[in-house]
Amino acid sequence: MKRIVIVGASSGLGRAIAESFASKGWRVGIAARREEPLALLQSRCPDLVEYKVIDITDPAAPSLLNELIDALGGMDVFLQAAGVGKQNPELTDEIERKTLMTNCVGFAAMVDTAFNYFKKHPDGDNRLCAITSVAGTKGLGMAASYSASKRFDSTYLTALEQLARLSGMKLSITDIRPGFIATDLLNPANHYPMLMTVEHAVPLIVKAIEKRRRVAVIDRRWWWLVQVWKLIPRFLWVRFPAKTRKE
Ligand SMILES: NC(=O)c1ccc[n+]([C@@H]2O[C@H](COP(=O)([O-])OP(=O)(O)OC[C@H]3O[C@@H](n4cnc5c(N)ncnc54)[C@H](OP(=O)(O)O)[C@@H]3O)[C@@H](O)[C@H]2O)c1
Repeated sequence: MKRIVIVGASSGLGRAIAESFASKGWRVGIAARREEPLALLQSRCPDLVEYKVIDITDPAAPSLLNELIDALGGMDVFLQAAGVGKQNPELTDEIERKTLMTNCVGFAAMVDTAFNYFKKHPDGDNRLCAITSVAGTKGLGMAASYSASKRFDSTYLTALEQLARLSGMKLSITDIRPGFIATDLLNPANHYPMLMTVEHAVPLIVKAIEKRRRVAVIDRRWWWLVQVWKLIPRFLWVRFPAKTRKE
């Protein structure tokens, strides 16, 4: 029986991905800060699901993640889904710090722990996956720390891919980059262009994990948009009104 560990599975994409893998009969280890939704999912699939309360910004997070992996009886696939993000044009220090602590420091702590697990268990399936964002393609004025943190995450995954090769490890890495999806992460007061539903996005994410895609932009419309964004030179990009409007 295959085993997946998902950090950031108490709501949104992480929870829906956990439900999808459990429905396929996988054993699923889930983690986040809020215990109630984790316990609820565990109670619905007691034979398949293990959970652990983890705050990824806490220095104890790596050892708690190892405990969850042990409770699951090992791990074939790791998915880092936990993340926070807010528009912050005032550059409020508290928001910037929280975003960077979670999406960079916490992110690195979790993917490093998974990497080291796979290094010690070379005979497994060994897939390390993370949800980053199309926001990492360019610096976004309305969400400086969020867009920069997602660029950090994608670059970190590339670094781990090279490190795996240098270390002679068999490890596949998947960088999942969604566009806007209607989850708690988004501000309901704003209008988001090309907004996707969780029901539309999650099967595409699950497929990308199963097919071991290296980079998966979710969905195809966003893939095309990212190709266009990449072509825009910086002097034009900084003049571009990349801003959501109020509903
Ligand atoms: N929705 C979008 O439009 C969109 C687009 C691109 C990328 N993404 C990325 O997709 C991922 C999932 O987000 P979502 O849209 O599903 O939003 P969400 O519903 O807010 O889910 C975020 C998850 O991260 C967990 N989390 C946040 N801080 C944490 C911490 N310090 N320690 C442990 N877990 C933490 C939350 O659990 P607790 O609060 O219980 O800890 C929750 O399970 C994020 O990385 C996000 O950046 C989302």
